[in-house]
Amino acid sequence: MMNFHILTLFPEMVLEGLNTSIIGRAAERGYISIEAVNIRDYTLDKHGKVDDYTYGGGAGMLMQAQPVYDAYMAVQSRIKTNSARVIYVTPQGRTFHQELAKELAREEDLIFLCGHYEGIDERVLEEIVTDEISIGDYVLTGGELPAMVMVDAIARLVPGVLHNTDSAVTESFYDGLLEYPQYSRPEIWHDKRVPQVLLSGDHAKVDAWRLEQSVLRTKERRPDLYEAYAEKRCGEIRNKKK
Ligand code: ADE
Repeated sequence: MMNFHILTLFPEMVLEGLNTSIIGRAAERGYISIEAVNIRDYTLDKHGKVDDYTYGGGAGMLMQAQPVYDAYMAVQSRIKTNSARVIYVTPQGRTFHQELAKELAREEDLIFLCGHYEGIDERVLEEIVTDEISIGDYVLTGGELPAMVMVDAIARLVPGVLHNTDSAVTESFYDGLLEYPQYSRPEIWHDKRVPQVLLSGDHAKVDAWRLEQSVLRTKERRPDLYEAYAEKRCGEIRNKKK
């Protein structure tokens, strides 16, 4: 069981997105829980304001420290995990990847902090954030979509979330390789045949073909991943010889 807590100014956006399909079903069945906490509910400003101008001038508004801090404290005070990891979703963080998803999937509680406007007052970030993570080198209008991307990638690794336990491992990035091509019925479509080996019923041959396709595909499309894979394979072969 894993609990996601998302601090945001747009709770509907996050819940709409994540209560659908596989992640929604997993939440319904109790493998995960997803809570969106509205930062605006914690402002002490009587007009519900959560942002203000930046000291030193410059464009845009900044989310103020107080509502963010109080929203965080409210979550932290009612969860079991003593000091849960707090992920600030920002293009300035380190880049998210599958290994990090695996690491985070082992936590019981994860708190995501979504920024808006020009960002969040640095002082509250210093006090509560344990991890700053980006989903890639491009800039979005807010942290909600990146938080949803990360929750999806992490949640599907939680035991029970995917029906087929195989599918979490036999896929792109398992063993650092891209996935092999796949085919379904009919056998011929637009004059294109399904590769013969897949119809052979010989599982060993099918596995060998798939691995070969994965390696070829990775070499062609992601030379960086292929390099790392080849390196690792060489190491394994060296160790066996010893
Ligand atoms: N907020 C805006 N852009 C982002 C990105 N690429 N990753 C994480 N958070 C963001």
